This record gives sequence, C-alpha cells and structure tokens, in this order.
Amino acid sequence: MVLSQKPDSILVLDFGGQYCHLIGRRVREQKVYSEVVPFNITPEEIKSLGEKFNVKGLILSGGPSSVYVEDAPKPNKEILDLGIPILGICYGHQLLAYMFGGEVKPGKEKEYGVTYATIIKPDKILFGLKRREKVWMSHGDTVYKLPKEFEVLAYTKNSPIAAFRHRRKPIYGLQWHPEVTHTKRGTLMLRNFIFRVCRCKPKWVMENFIEKTVKEIRETVGDSRCIIALSGGVDSSTAAVLASKAVGKRLTAVFVDHGFMREGEPEAVSETFKKFDMSFVMVDARRRFLEKLKGVVDPELKRKIIGEEFIRVFEEVAREIKAEYLIQGTIYPDRIESGFRKHSEKIKTHHNVAGLPTKIEFKGIVEPLRDLYKDEVRRVAESLGLPKEIVWRQPFPGPGLAVRVVGEVTEEKLEIVKKADRIVREEIEKAGLADSLWQYFAVLADVKTTGIKGDARAYGYMVAVRAVKSEDAMTASFAQIPYRVLEKISTRITNELPSVTRVVFDVTHKPPATIEWE
Ligand code: XMP
Repeated sequence: MVLSQKPDSILVLDFGGQYCHLIGRRVREQKVYSEVVPFNITPEEIKSLGEKFNVKGLILSGGPSSVYVEDAPKPNKEILDLGIPILGICYGHQLLAYMFGGEVKPGKEKEYGVTYATIIKPDKILFGLKRREKVWMSHGDTVYKLPKEFEVLAYTKNSPIAAFRHRRKPIYGLQWHPEVTHTKRGTLMLRNFIFRVCRCKPKWVMENFIEKTVKEIRETVGDSRCIIALSGGVDSSTAAVLASKAVGKRLTAVFVDHGFMREGEPEAVSETFKKFDMSFVMVDARRRFLEKLKGVVDPELKRKIIGEEFIRVFEEVAREIKAEYLIQGTIYPDRIESGFRKHSEKIKTHHNVAGLPTKIEFKGIVEPLRDLYKDEVRRVAESLGLPKEIVWRQPFPGPGLAVRVVGEVTEEKLEIVKKADRIVREEIEKAGLADSLWQYFAVLADVKTTGIKGDARAYGYMVAVRAVKSEDAMTASFAQIPYRVLEKISTRITNELPSVTRVVFDVTHKPPATIEWE
C-alpha cells in the first residue's frame, strides 16, 4: 500500500443533529475517512481539505431546525454545484428538496421510531433493498413536493417522499436515519452511497494512520524536545507511543499526580511506564492542586483550574528539560463536548481542551489523536502492541476524582470517594461484569443524610454508584447491574466507610445526564 496516497473521504456537514457524529463513525467503519465539518463550509474550505484527503462525498446531517424558518441553517449554495455527490439525511433530505424548489411543511403526523418504507426503485443508494424495509425516523417536517428534475425512490405511510434522487446529478435524500442500528439495512444504504455513488476506495486503515501520524509529529516538532502529558489511560498512552516513535529519546513522559487519581493508580502507572523505552517523570503536585481548588464548587471552574494547573506543571518540567512542545492524548469526543463545533452546545470543558489557559509557554500543542473516537484509539493501541490492561482500561477523566466529589474537594471527601471507588471496582470485577461496561465508579454527592449506625443516629455522606454502557461516550445507558451486586457494594461501602450513611444507584442515561456527575 502506498502510504503517501491521500485517503478518500466523506465530509459530514453538521446541522446540529444528535446523530451527526454517528454518521462520521459509520463511514469510518467502512475504512473511508470522514470528518464532521460546520454546515456552512465554503467551496474554498472544501478545496483546501482536499490537500489532506480526496473529498469524494458530502453528507448533510439531520438537525433540530425547520428548513422554512428564517434563520434555518443552510449550506453554502455553491457546494451543490461542485459535482461532489451529496446525501441529505432527515433535515439534510428536507434541505435539499427545499433548496431546489420543493415543498417542505409540517407533516400531517410526526414520525418517531421504527416504520416501514416501500422502496420504489432499488437502485444506486437503495441498491439491494427489498420492496419493504424497516427504517427509523425522527421528524416533524415532511417533503411533499419535488421539482421536475427529481424522482421519488421510496415512501412511508406518513412521508410520500421518503427518499429521492436528482435525475442528472449525484444528489440523494433519505428522510430516515441510515446511521442508526434500528434502520435494519442502514449500513447497506450508507455503503451504497460511499462506494456505488461516491466510488470511494476503502483504504483508511489504522496502520496507515500510525505511519502518517508519526510522520506528522516529526514534521511539526522538528528537532525539538517534547513532553507528553501522560495519565496512564489508553488515549495518552497511545499518544505517548506514537510520539516516542516520532521523536525517540527527545520525548519525556510526564505523569502529574494531582491527588485525584484512583487508589493505587499513580504506582501502577509508574510501574507500567518504567518498562517503556522513554524517559518518565512523575510529579507530586497533590498539595498545589488541592490548594487551588479550596472553596471552589462550580464544576466548570474546577475543570478550568485543573486544566490550567496541569499546563503550569508541564511548563515547569519543560523549562527544566528544555522541551518546546506539549503532546496530549485529546480525542475527538473531548473536542466535541468542549464545544469546538461552531453550532453545537458546549456540554462541559474537558480539562485538556477548553480548560487550557489562553497563555501558554509551549511553542505548540500536538494532539495526534484529535480526530479519533475511543474505539479507534483502542485499535491503534492494539496495533502498537500496548498491553491489554491499558487498551481496555475504563476511561477516567483528566480532572479525576475532583469531578466525582460534587462541590468543594477536600482531603476527607477524596479519601471517601477513593475507597468507595475501590469497592465498586472490586465488586463489579468480581461479578464478571467489567468487560461489558464502559465505566463504573463511585461519586460523592454534596448532601448529607440521616442514618443509623451501631444503634445510634448518624448523619453522613451519600455515595452514588454509576455504571454505564456505551460505544463512544457520546451517548450512554445506565447498566442494569444485578441487585445482589448492588447490595454487596452498598453493604461494603456503608460498613467500611464510617462516614457514609447512604448509597444510591444512578439510573439515568446520557442524555439527559452526562456520564460524570460534574
Ligand atoms: P461525560 O461526563 O461528558 O464524559 O459524559 C464523557 C467521557 O469523557 C470522560 N471525561 C473526561 N475526560 N477530561 C478527560 O480526559 C475531562 O475533563 C473529562 N470529562 C469527562 C468521561 O469519564 C467519559 O468517559
């Protein structure tokens, strides 16, 4: 395989839909690179992305707006004339119809959930489909009329034009969501677009990614020394190995013990990384982080303070060893949630993204994994030969237990949450549930409740147990942990931690909750 060849790619124009990132992932699963870009990307911007990869198709995502309202987000009109194939999904489907002069209005009935589509023409995008297909819908508006140059390809009970194509141009619309698993043959529909319509070649593989990224790091940092911010999780460990391949002995891995790690973690990380062929420095910064957080209760402020303090510690180490670049294991969802998408909401400031101070001493920050999702990072980590404990380690937020102690962080509370967390981990692992869960941990809520301990009234802390299943942390569902395991956890926490009087189990999905409590 020629590595210098640019990969074929599909751009997903982001109209704010909750499945936008999922479309990108589904494309990548087909070994075709994909990037989510702002909906109003210009033809010039598309051309300049063409320097990195061949843009072979555009997908207009779903979104919460109505195409006919005044400030509805619309793409730059000129992109319709670039000759690049376009697929509109849901809102994107309605947009294409509307922009070409069709009629879109509120549907007689809204369609949410599974429905059946009748396929009139199983051609191109609908190639290989049967007459009746199970599809998943989530829309209030409906396309009712199309201009002459369009042709209807499918309909449902409530959508007379559920799929269409332009008769001469490679422009398609699907009212349903092919990217969600409830659309039974959604993958086939996306593959039809990617391979039959856009004629992409499935060449985007992780081995490619590794070589390309190592080269990019080398080009960016030149002969400089670098430090890598290491937490021991899969993201930063993978970034460390990539960076080490790129700059060799000029890399120092810095592990900051801010005091918010899980029990035994600093020791385990330093044990693992001493075995790697890279300089490893552990900084004991427990006092200074705790000092900085004194009296701070606002979660966003906590994250900002921690983000800044991390950078200050890295700067100090960098000054000492004369390093000019900071390498971080930031991944794609960190950036999405920190609000880097122009038209999406900021959910929370991930410490290593929006938590960064505006003034930093580094010549540059390098984020080799910035475009990858977690499962993709894990595949890279496996290809790089990282040990299984690191590849499959449950994610742990950079600000650590500081965001699992709701409200002000104190030494006493940290001790409680550390011990409770150990118990949760031990019992979940003992019950053989760990492999099926994305994360499982304890949170110390900022409330006290009444209890009875040793026949006497007790007024103590409340620990919440959180266990979730997820594919990529963008959405998650609470895990149905058996009651007997929860009972064991609850009994142990209240027995082993004298100041805890109550244990609760968090039964909220994401959304509406996030995985972490802060
Ligand atoms: P939320 O809480 O937003 O978390 O549902 C999504 C995933 O990200 C982790 N997380 C973080 N990771 N720095 C990180 O490196 C952070 O500031 C941060 N906040 C949350 C969280 O554990 C989950 O896996």
